[in-house]
Amino acid sequence: MRAFHRYGKRHLFKIILGSSMMLAFVTLFMVSNSGSIEIFYDIPFMKVDSANPLIIVITPTYRRPTRLADLTRMANTLQQVPDLYWIVVEDATEKVKLVERILIRTRLPYTYFPVKTIPGYPKRGWYQRTEALTFLRNETQLILNGRNKGVVYFGDDDNSYDIRLFTEYIRNVKKLGLWAVGMVGGAPVESLNVVNGSVVGFKVKWNPKRKFAVDMAGFAVHLDIVLNSKLIYIYIYI
Ligand SMILES: *[C@@H]1O[C@H](CO)[C@@H](O)[C@H](O)[C@H]1NC(C)=O
Ligand SMILES: *[C@@H]1O[C@H](CO)[C@@H](O)[C@H](O)[C@H]1NC(C)=O
Repeated sequence: MRAFHRYGKRHLFKIILGSSMMLAFVTLFMVSNSGSIEIFYDIPFMKVDSANPLIIVITPTYRRPTRLADLTRMANTLQQVPDLYWIVVEDATEKVKLVERILIRTRLPYTYFPVKTIPGYPKRGWYQRTEALTFLRNETQLILNGRNKGVVYFGDDDNSYDIRLFTEYIRNVKKLGLWAVGMVGGAPVESLNVVNGSVVGFKVKWNPKRKFAVDMAGFAVHLDIVLNSKLIYIYIYI
C-alpha cells in the first residue's frame, strides 16, 4: 500500500453521476461506518433562505505537507458562499484537530468525519466520496435544514475556486452542470466543445476519446439525482 498518494491524478479517471448515463465499468460501493457522525448546524446567525438550493460540497482530504494551506485557501473561499454545506472526509481513522478548527472558523454548517481507505482500494478519495454520499443520503433532511433543493459538488482541497463558480454556476444546476477547468490533464483549460448551443464533445488534451472527458471539479449534480439514483458513487476507469 502506498503511504503517499495524490488525489490530483484526476485525469486518470472520470466520474459521472446519475442513473441515465452509465457505461463501461460501473462500480457501486456501499460502505458502513460504526462511529457516530456529528452535524454542525446550530449556527444562530445563519440565515436560511429556503428558496436558495443548498450547495453541498464534498471534499476528501488527507495528511500531506500542503494540506492545511490548501484547506485554508478553500475555506476562505467557501465561507463567502451563502447556503453551503461542507462535508469533509479525512482519509484516516481519526479526525485531525487543526482541520476541524479550520472548518469551525468558516462558520459554515459542516460535517467532518474520518474514514480510512480500505486496503486494495485506490487512495484517491474515492472511498471518502462514497462515504460522504452515504452520509448525505442518511442525513438528507438534517443537511437540507428546511430547504427542498440541493446541488452536490465534488471539490477537492487542492484546487483554487473562483467564488462565481458557486454563486453563478453550481447554485443554478438543475440536473447536471458541466464547465471548464483550468490546468488539468496537461492542458491550460479543459472545456466542453459547444457548437450552436449543443455540446458536441470535449476540448481536452488528455485522453480525448473519453465519452465524458470531465474533471472532478468540472461538474455538479442536482441532489435529487443523487438521491433518486441507486448509485452512490460511480467511476469509470479508463
Ligand atoms: C448510514 O446509515 C447506516 C444505517 O443507519 C449506518 O450504518 C452508516 O454508518 C451510515 N453511514 C454514514 C456514512 O453516515
Ligand atoms: C449553426 O447554426 C446556423 C443556423 O442554424 C447554421 O447556419 C450553421 O451552419 C450552424 N453551424 C454549425 C457549425 O453547425
